[in-house]
Amino acid sequence: MKIEIAKTAGFCMGVRRAVEMALDAPAKHADPIYTYGPLIHNPQVLALFAEKGITVLEEIPEQGSGTVLVRAHGVPPRDKQQLKDAGFRVVDATCPRVIRVQTIIRVHARKGFATIIVGDRDHPEVVGLVGYAGAEGFVVSSMAELEDLPVFDQAIIVAQTTQNMQFYEQVKAWAARRFPHYKTFDTICDSTEKRQDEVKQLSDRVDAIVVVGGRQSGNTQRLAEIAAESGKPAYHVETESELEACCLDPDRIGRVGITAGASTPNWIIKRVYRELERLPARKQAGVVRLFYRLIQTLLLTNVYVAIGAG
Ligand code: F3S
Repeated sequence: MKIEIAKTAGFCMGVRRAVEMALDAPAKHADPIYTYGPLIHNPQVLALFAEKGITVLEEIPEQGSGTVLVRAHGVPPRDKQQLKDAGFRVVDATCPRVIRVQTIIRVHARKGFATIIVGDRDHPEVVGLVGYAGAEGFVVSSMAELEDLPVFDQAIIVAQTTQNMQFYEQVKAWAARRFPHYKTFDTICDSTEKRQDEVKQLSDRVDAIVVVGGRQSGNTQRLAEIAAESGKPAYHVETESELEACCLDPDRIGRVGITAGASTPNWIIKRVYRELERLPARKQAGVVRLFYRLIQTLLLTNVYVAIGAG
């Protein structure tokens, strides 16, 4: 069985940076070390942080001490201020590409522009962006919601960094037609798009696809959906331990592709790769075991028959 790993599989720049900052934190900053909310959506990485004594701060207490890392998705500015006011040292691990969107919004909000954010209103990144927009911040996730918005004298349109590119192009075309005075910004991160394009191309070359990543990770789920849409068998696993449970048969699958979400570490991708390499040998060992059990059963049956006949 041939195995191909997608070039874009695994950590994107922003996640790698946030994870490195967290792993460096115990040596650089005051204890205890917290992340404000889960730093990324991957349970194995969060377990590694817990082993190193880095825990998740779900709510901001009135008073605290130590260091708090802000997640790659960013947070509203008032949360950062509250953390500082409570007595924490704040280390900002927000992805630089998200910071760019926050800055665009902040600068324009100060000049009186309304902000239209194209995204998922419950996503932590969008919750953070809304915080920079002040009172005139609006989140839309469909053309119908866009049509329902009031008309503004001046407005900007930005997208959540992981938004669907085609939908955002539609939004920009709508704005150009209806409200040419609105300013639109290209804020979608190309790492998501490249990853999604590559899984489509990969599916043409392989017989099955394994998508590795946290079940809560939105971008991993989307990759699994795209892989499934290709018509090839697609399996979403968090770790290599789930591989046997799924039905990858090395005798039927000549080539298998591996891709992974932006929050999946390389060490898990490598373990999945090695486990896939071992599948043919495991299957052979299973067949041999089955054969021996069959022989044993036949021999025992013959013995019983012989005793019965005696
Ligand atoms: Fe940043 Fe793009 Fe990753 S915005 S967190 S590099 S998906």
